[in-house]
Amino acid sequence: MSQLITTPRLVEAGTSNTSHIGKPTSRVEGPAKVTGTAKYSAEFNVPDMLYGYVVTSPITKGRITKINTEPVLALAGVVQIFSHENVPSLAWFDRSYKDDVAPGGSPFRPLHDNEIKFNMQPVALVVAETFEVARYAASVLEIEYAEDKFDTNIDLKRDEGHEPGSGKTGFMPPPPPRGNPNDALKNATHRIEGEYIHGAQHHNPMEMFATTVEYHPDGKITAYDKTQGVYNVQQYITKIFGLSKDQARVVNHYMGGGFGSGLRPQYQVFLAVLAALELKQSVRVSLTRQQMFSFGHRPHTLQYLKMGTNPDGTLAALHHHALHETSRFEEYTENVVNWSGMLYQCENVKLGYQVAELDVYTPLDMRAPGAATGSFGLEVAMDEMAYAAGIDPLDFRIRNYAEQDQNMKKPFSSKKLRECYHEGATRFGWDKRTPEPRSMREGNQLIGWGMAGGVWDASMQKAAAKATFTADGKLLVQSAAGENGTGTYTIMTQIAAETLGLPIEAVTFELGDTNMPEAPVQGGSWTAASVGSAVKNVCTDIGEKLLKLAQKMEGSPLKGASIDDVHFADGQIRLSANPSEAVVVRDILAASGEEKLEAETSAMPNLIKQQPYSMHSHNAVFAEVRVDEDLGTVHVTRVVNAVAAGRILNTKTARSQVLGSVVWGISMALMEETVMDHTFGRYMNHNYAEYHIPVNADIHDIDVIFVEEEDDKVNPLGVKGIGEVGMLGVAAAITNAVYHATGKRVRELPIYMDKLL
Ligand code: MOS
Repeated sequence: MSQLITTPRLVEAGTSNTSHIGKPTSRVEGPAKVTGTAKYSAEFNVPDMLYGYVVTSPITKGRITKINTEPVLALAGVVQIFSHENVPSLAWFDRSYKDDVAPGGSPFRPLHDNEIKFNMQPVALVVAETFEVARYAASVLEIEYAEDKFDTNIDLKRDEGHEPGSGKTGFMPPPPPRGNPNDALKNATHRIEGEYIHGAQHHNPMEMFATTVEYHPDGKITAYDKTQGVYNVQQYITKIFGLSKDQARVVNHYMGGGFGSGLRPQYQVFLAVLAALELKQSVRVSLTRQQMFSFGHRPHTLQYLKMGTNPDGTLAALHHHALHETSRFEEYTENVVNWSGMLYQCENVKLGYQVAELDVYTPLDMRAPGAATGSFGLEVAMDEMAYAAGIDPLDFRIRNYAEQDQNMKKPFSSKKLRECYHEGATRFGWDKRTPEPRSMREGNQLIGWGMAGGVWDASMQKAAAKATFTADGKLLVQSAAGENGTGTYTIMTQIAAETLGLPIEAVTFELGDTNMPEAPVQGGSWTAASVGSAVKNVCTDIGEKLLKLAQKMEGSPLKGASIDDVHFADGQIRLSANPSEAVVVRDILAASGEEKLEAETSAMPNLIKQQPYSMHSHNAVFAEVRVDEDLGTVHVTRVVNAVAAGRILNTKTARSQVLGSVVWGISMALMEETVMDHTFGRYMNHNYAEYHIPVNADIHDIDVIFVEEEDDKVNPLGVKGIGEVGMLGVAAAITNAVYHATGKRVRELPIYMDKLL
């Protein structure tokens, strides 16, 4: 951006200056959120509602031998206690049932029998007339257990890892070895190897999980559930309770953060629906902050990497192996090592991936699952390798740039990682770095600069949308998509407004309701591409209907034009060849006598067009740390994150996504870890006092760059998604900066101060 443009670019008379896509439009739902009119799952106050409070197991494995319900049921205001002893016979899941993102195995069935499979397992639901009574009653409910031995420590299961037999949606087993990885490593000029470890982490969105089930007089229910996928939850409810789809509506308009925790239906929705159907009354079940640690987590993962270089600094060999935990009842998988086979050019690669069963709850996708962790191992090892070979870490990456995806042996549909390196390094001032560890300091502050990066999937799923255009010139677009705080409402409004040339204010986008056309769970960074394409398609359909009606108008200048001959701008349909020939959209319905136009359609990825390509987003992260030499405290004072993710639909909401990713990366590097005491099999810091996350004072300068990247292969919009890619490499860049500052190579997160003293 060195050139100053002094002459405005001339625009053709009559062409549009209203273009919404790419603009930093503020969140359209922002006013509803800050004025409290946006309702979250636990805020739907339906008449005659009861409150459920969950009781969880203090033991890790064994059986419930006795539940002493009588004294608790006698308490004033207590309505019922549900446990395995009185759960009615349910249709449950048919044997093949899996939720949309379930791993192999059989999903956890709350209150199914007296067996305890993990610590903090829900064992009972106390239902009362008020939340306070339910909570008190739950606290005095006596349950006796018989304890069995258990295994919760992955460190002791290193030899019991095995390749997963199945995988969930999106799981790719690592490709077979290529080249001659063992010999190439043996003959390498420089070699490094090391083990890279991080513990479990739990999702901690601001909003806790909750479900309000409204019981209707006709026996139907509406579940206001905290979920990233209303259709996924509807399927869960209907399969378990033997209901038809019209008997169970699921709604989620707003989420106070999800990060993957709401991809799968959680047990509170089961408990709330069970109680409502049994008691024939509306029920709300909300989890406490502590109970947020009772389901799903980023798995404790052990990674081993070996690398070697040729004399010219190119990679001779790369070995990456990962082992992480799963539960006894489901085989959770994520792609941890595959990225190492595609991010850098290397002819001799060996990738291994294993899971080991423990007596824990099934791990759960957490923002950039597998890649956030795999890029930590890979990118710290790359830094070590660069130092061993005596090459600048950025230069080392550029020397080993992958021009094609070697895992799939396909070219990339687009890849601007080189530009990420360049623009990120320039903004950061990387060329002023002195390579020697401990070579940059101010007083007793050791200053370190580190960098890293990553690669993530550009995915698209089938999605549907409906649009209604009314005579007052307003457009309503609906799709059962999710909005976990990412900007879905806003970008869909922009796409619709852009497609039909309407002002933002004329468009309303609604989501999160099974009464709307189906959309996939909001995850995998695929919502912009998937739902966005459906919105574009359905608006194009409305456009065609408008054009047909416009052509029937007296003296219409659009007669004989096809949809490709016109464009929509500034509330008009214009002939592209002669934009002054136009019809005002608002006049069309009035002239036709129609009250409204409706269309419903879906969008699917064009697999034939995509098949020859590898489609991915990339990023490069540069971080500055200041380490107090005496105390070992680390402050991340500066981060530049340069992202190439195709077309950016909204630079404001996209930037916010990346800012959040960086904050979480800082957290992952320095603070966040759920610590298990293996004597009890229990996560001991299951609360906000002891599970550390950053506060504002921990966060300093964060600079986000979106590198221009055009891609006409991924989808009609050219978008790759932005929710996850920003998280990659952040923890590694900080770890590498800590090495540069201190000369201490930390390979286990988080980097507590004792690791630096
Ligand atoms: Mo994301 S972990 O796919 O919600």
